[in-house]
Amino acid sequence: MNPIGIGVIGGGGIAAEGHIRGFQTDPRCLVRALWDVDDARVQEQAQRLGVYSVSASLNALLDRDDIQAVSVCSPDHTHGELCHRALQAGKHVLCEKPMCTSRADAARLVQDVRATGLTFLAGHVYHFRPEAEAMVAAYRNGEIGDAWLAEGDYISDMRPFYGADGFTPWRTDSRAPQDILLGGGCHPLGMMLWALQTRVTQVFAVANHRAEPILPLNDCYVATLQFENGVIGKLIAASGNRGYAPTGGNLVIYGTHGTLWRNKLYRNDMHTHKSQVIHDWAEEFKEHRPRVHDTRQVHHFAEQCEHFLDCIQGKAQPRTSVVDGARIVAALSAAIESARTGQPVTVDNAF
Ligand SMILES: NC(=O)c1ccc[n+]([C@@H]2O[C@H](COP(=O)([O-])OP(=O)(O)OC[C@H]3O[C@@H](n4cnc5c(N)ncnc54)[C@H](O)[C@@H]3O)[C@@H](O)[C@H]2O)c1
Repeated sequence: MNPIGIGVIGGGGIAAEGHIRGFQTDPRCLVRALWDVDDARVQEQAQRLGVYSVSASLNALLDRDDIQAVSVCSPDHTHGELCHRALQAGKHVLCEKPMCTSRADAARLVQDVRATGLTFLAGHVYHFRPEAEAMVAAYRNGEIGDAWLAEGDYISDMRPFYGADGFTPWRTDSRAPQDILLGGGCHPLGMMLWALQTRVTQVFAVANHRAEPILPLNDCYVATLQFENGVIGKLIAASGNRGYAPTGGNLVIYGTHGTLWRNKLYRNDMHTHKSQVIHDWAEEFKEHRPRVHDTRQVHHFAEQCEHFLDCIQGKAQPRTSVVDGARIVAALSAAIESARTGQPVTVDNAF
């Protein structure tokens, strides 16, 4: 059987360390071409990673019959248009998070996927951590009863990635900088929605800009969330962390019978009223490593690529579908608007 041909759009760090290396671990596919607006960089990447060809243009890549699927690994603000063009060209799509940066783009992608019937996986790689899978399974199995409060955060020190000399200058480029609530906050919000199987109906957010002068946007957000199922939540996204506790996607869920707190399940002993650890997945998985782990950013990209191929082959449904990705973008865009206006914003989830 011919391998599934993969084209990679945007050939920077995550393409190289994550998607290309990830796909290269799976014999069901072959990374056939790479395209990037930076031709010099992409030639070097292709050679280093053993990708057979560099396309001269996006159209040249999308026109190829031997490419059935693409990974979109370009800057956040380009995802919406690039995914749309790939779907229009008949390619299955794995899109890096956030799926796009506006609700309008999200709605268009949902329509594209419905119209074409192609596979679309919104790339939320944290969903492939075994401890996250265990927490979500525990919640769904009723281990903490009914949830009433959820918390998630992404609190990072982005200095190595920011600025003209940083790893990813686009993040602080004033023409289309990364909004940390979309780019970072999508991790914990994605986890909350995945676990709770609900949607955000209303948000109220505050933000400031005190830690990262080089970033043209707010660098810290706190958002309160009202979920459709009655749970309320708190989401923090910040890029100016200095020192202890850089976190990238912590999840906490408080329930009527227990608490899932950062990869552990707790309940109170009814007699002593002491908190007891019932399961410690951090301990259980402490020796676990993602399949590709000799990289700067160690995440389960190979596992995510494998899942994408399973979805294309009809063996699985996307863990984060285009509608899931759209709901994440809709809620986070509403939170950005809330921080700007000082008013709560109702989230339009009608996708
Ligand atoms: N899942 C994760 O944990 C994770 C971690 C880091 C980055 N990301 C995401 O991955 C994406 C890429 O980030 P990165 O760290 O690889 O950045 P990067 O700067 O290393 O790579 C981005 C590449 O895209 C290219 N590019 C810019 N505009 C383009 C366009 N219009 N079309 C095609 N290519 C274009 C740039 O030349 C560059 O080579 C971003 O969306 C980012 O948010 C995800």
